[in-house]
Amino acid sequence: MRLKRQNYHDIERIIEFDFVRATEAAALNSLPWLGRGEKEKADAAACDAIRGMFDLMNICGEVVIGEGIKDDAPGIFKGEQLGTWYPGAPQFDIALDPIDGTTNISKGAPNSIACIAAASPEEGVKCALRDIPSFYMMKLSYGPEVLRSMQIAGIETIKLLSPIEETLAAVAQALNKRIQDVVVMMLDRPRHNEIVGQIRATGASLRMISDGDIAAAMAPAIPESAIDLYIGIGGSPEAVLAAAGIKCLGGDMQCMMWPRDDNERKSLVESGHEADLGRVFFADDLANGKNIIFCATGISDSALLKGVKLKGATAITYSVLMRAKSKTVRFIRASHDLQSKTIRLRSDNREHGI
Ligand code: FBP
Repeated sequence: MRLKRQNYHDIERIIEFDFVRATEAAALNSLPWLGRGEKEKADAAACDAIRGMFDLMNICGEVVIGEGIKDDAPGIFKGEQLGTWYPGAPQFDIALDPIDGTTNISKGAPNSIACIAAASPEEGVKCALRDIPSFYMMKLSYGPEVLRSMQIAGIETIKLLSPIEETLAAVAQALNKRIQDVVVMMLDRPRHNEIVGQIRATGASLRMISDGDIAAAMAPAIPESAIDLYIGIGGSPEAVLAAAGIKCLGGDMQCMMWPRDDNERKSLVESGHEADLGRVFFADDLANGKNIIFCATGISDSALLKGVKLKGATAITYSVLMRAKSKTVRFIRASHDLQSKTIRLRSDNREHGI
């Protein structure tokens, strides 16, 4: 006899590949906007493809973290429902950034990805993907080897608020490197001038990026990235997405809300967030529980993923798909035949060639 409903509870395992189809579609559909100076159009194209793919997915998805408030882009925002929402379909909380690095796309520059994290309900987990109320967070992330060395030592040798020289010395020791060989990635922003000076004074090597700190924060957890540490102040939604990915990769992240000015601090206090202002959030605090899926597809090259490559009538996409429960990390190189491939777009509910 056929069961009315699938009697299987590891639902992310069944559905995870559809999530990566969504980020692939976002990357492919935004590609024509690479270098065209139209970041909103690129973002709209990515959102249209993500919504179109979700329209085919039999889930009840709710966006719990959407486009950061900095964008006026036609983004996918908190509260939007994604999926078919057929009765009985599995529930997912979704955090996404259809394009992290929209300015980079508009300039045809590196460092842009499409990215989704999703979590299905789990006993004991109240909020899997935490919506942080501040615009920015101060972030520090490192890979599994550094985390392991702290676990073995039984002390937190790396702390978000420690002087950077101490952090770099601890990372160097954990990785069995000299400080001058430690590679630090950060956003190139005037607000980082002081810490840039301090890092340079230690002799450590910097890799500054103009935008796109989800991939950058995840890079230390990817052995091939050649990045040892990510540090700096960037968007809060991006911190949660990176935390979901870092958790699956076995690294860790420490973050703290970073109000831009007194007004933002005051409004955070007034809205009941005073206690959290001094709190250090670890990856597991931002992306809690085991039922988490993370996927991303490169649009232009980053430390995490190669961007889309066009070879004749074929587009090659590079994605990562992983789950916190199994810690399986799949790097997926997909070849899309441009003469046959179609992407479903929400804007007209039809399939489109690319
Ligand atoms: P968008 O693609 O949404 O513009 O974000 C790019 C980004 O660089 C993020 O990766 C980063 O967290 C944030 O902007 C930094 O903000 P700001 O540009 O205000 O310093």
